[in-house]
Amino acid sequence: MTFLELVQKRYSVRAYTDRPVEDEKLAYILEAARMAPTGSNRQAFQLVVVHTEGRGAEMKRLYGQDWFADAPIVICACAAPSYGLNVGIVVDHIILAATERGLGTCWIGAFDRDAAREILGVPEDKAPIIMMTLGYAADEPRTKKRKDLDDLVRYGHW
Ligand SMILES: Cc1cc2nc3c(=O)[nH]c(=O)nc-3n(C[C@H](O)[C@H](O)[C@H](O)COP(=O)(O)O)c2cc1C
Repeated sequence: MTFLELVQKRYSVRAYTDRPVEDEKLAYILEAARMAPTGSNRQAFQLVVVHTEGRGAEMKRLYGQDWFADAPIVICACAAPSYGLNVGIVVDHIILAATERGLGTCWIGAFDRDAAREILGVPEDKAPIIMMTLGYAADEPRTKKRKDLDDLVRYGHW
């Protein structure tokens, strides 16, 4: 699979089977996160990996959609607030590595940050920046809707 095929294959999975994620696949994905570039190579992020089994009520408080709690794993990427950009590339590594391993993911920005801080024990000086689900898809990819490159790219000047 080429890189372009990989990014075309990835889509936001919003329905999950109850098949668990293999430990080797989780380790592979977390290694991809560890290899992500970060400013001055500080790696100033923490990933809170949650196996959701038995924690459905807590997951519901984080993000109210049933499919979120159905995902066997939820990961919360945390950093000091000014390090949010670093977290973006780390999460992208996770999501693309997961896609390559046949797993589904969805970025979740609209989660309850106060609940995440409390439930996941995120310390005061760090912020829960973004969450993602991880598991085997129970839905199908949709046709990707994207703007044309002409709308997104300028050459030489705006
Ligand atoms: C930073 C960010 C935050 C997002 N937050 C949510 C979210 O809270 N809930 C959700 O269902 N999808 C969320 N998404 C997924 C986007 O809606 C999705 O990526 C976009 O519609 C394109 O669809 P695709 O991922 O299937 O290609 C988020 C995506 C990004 C990059």
